[in-house]
Amino acid sequence: MNMRYISYDTLMIRLVVLYIDDKIGSDWPGRWTHVRKILARTGPFAHPDFEPGPEVLEFLQKTCKVLVVGAGGLGCELLKNLALMGFGNIHVIDMDTVDISNLNRQFLFRPKDIGKSKAEAAAQFIMSRVPGCIVTAHFKKIQDYDEDFYRSFHIVVCGLDSVIARRWINGMLVNILSNEDGMLDPSSIVPMVDGGTEGFKGNARVVIPGMSACIECTLDLYPPQVNFPLCTIAHTPRLPEHCIEYVRVLLWPKEQPFGDGVEIDGDDPEHIQWIYDKSLDRATMYNIHGITYRLTQGVIKHIIPAVASTNAVIAAVCTTEVFKLATSCCNPLNNYMVFNDTDGLYTYTFEAEKKENCLSCGQTVQSMEFSNKAKLQDVIDYLTQAPEYQMKSPGITTYIDGKNKTLYMPTVPSIEERTRPNLKKTLQELELGDGQELVVADITTPTSIVFKLKLIVTMTDD
Ligand SMILES: *[C@@H]1O[C@H](CO)[C@@H](O)[C@H](O)[C@H]1NC(C)=O
Ligand SMILES: *[C@@H]1O[C@H](CO)[C@@H](O)[C@H](O)[C@H]1NC(C)=O
Ligand SMILES: [Zn+2]
Repeated sequence: MNMRYISYDTLMIRLVVLYIDDKIGSDWPGRWTHVRKILARTGPFAHPDFEPGPEVLEFLQKTCKVLVVGAGGLGCELLKNLALMGFGNIHVIDMDTVDISNLNRQFLFRPKDIGKSKAEAAAQFIMSRVPGCIVTAHFKKIQDYDEDFYRSFHIVVCGLDSVIARRWINGMLVNILSNEDGMLDPSSIVPMVDGGTEGFKGNARVVIPGMSACIECTLDLYPPQVNFPLCTIAHTPRLPEHCIEYVRVLLWPKEQPFGDGVEIDGDDPEHIQWIYDKSLDRATMYNIHGITYRLTQGVIKHIIPAVASTNAVIAAVCTTEVFKLATSCCNPLNNYMVFNDTDGLYTYTFEAEKKENCLSCGQTVQSMEFSNKAKLQDVIDYLTQAPEYQMKSPGITTYIDGKNKTLYMPTVPSIEERTRPNLKKTLQELELGDGQELVVADITTPTSIVFKLKLIVTMTDD
């Protein structure tokens, strides 16, 4: 490494630290000049409710409580932007720890942070650099917190690489809505700004739960996820796909099962079988269910690398939206922005529409239509494969003869074993009649969803 570079860098850091030490607790001249210009007067794109004045900046600095979900590639950018914009009360939640492979783009982390909580390291870094900004870290899963936690924020902004987590947060923000006399109580709305990136492509969207399209309303826009960050694969597998990726990316090169230098051939059954067997071992170790031969073959695809510039663009859009929502200084994005700089630069916005019978924010009861000859497995397949549901490992219970009955429960091994035979039974054999309510639980949603069964009775010839 170039020594001259290091000493110059160290000198600059010392100068910055000295400068900040001197200014802590106070604003230096010109610190808010630009933000104040935006907040001091109104304009043609301002929201009708906008009241310009110094109180708006004060609200950002003292009162407005923002939750950043995810402290990875997007999360680092989001935190830095919000802090420099003047947001003074930021919370960040992430269950992951810093991996060496993060350091090229997750710029709030340093080699000394490897193995530490991303949320805590990011919070410390921001607070050491941006005077007056308090960042509260949560080294937790999003599922570890309840409605009261999420209700306590003015705005939630997500920088996640997982569709499941994004759907769960969306479900939570829909759940905390309250109605008064059939009218949505505006004070129960916590807007969600969501960013996503994959290679050179990205999107940003604004969801006003209960009012505009939510994540589930437009679920068919998300292709099923096949790429995962290396740190998750290596250290915190949560999905069957993580286990398969672990074998593909880490175990195969190490063990070279078909001879030195032999690459994985996705069409070679022996290769897939080997990966399948090893994935099963790892899944068992982490108590993860759902590895199948077919899934294994499906996952054996190319990883799209994370691109720092895409994260920067998408986080800039997201934090601008958070700023607009918090201050009303400008109308928010309505409501979905697409970015693609694979070849040149292509970007546009459109208004995603709210779906009347949305699984999450719709007001109608969900229904499923099956023949009485259909098997319970067909119901599970439908819930996992239909583009509008894309569930991961649904469990189904029902209320029958005055009792709750578990039809299938994949998440608890002993219950899974006991209920597995039901998968092969027909709905008729399970005594599920027309109008029967099936209660479906899945990791994509914080609460169970009730489906009304519509049974088509078909006669057989024999
Ligand atoms: C992104 O741009 C590339 C190159 O122009 C194009 O092939 C691809 O289909 C675009 N993807 C999306 C999702 O718009
Ligand atoms: C059945 O399950 C529901 C939902 O989990 C619960 O509210 C209800 O009390 C249960 N009923 C009985 C009889 O166990
Ligand atoms: Zn919806």
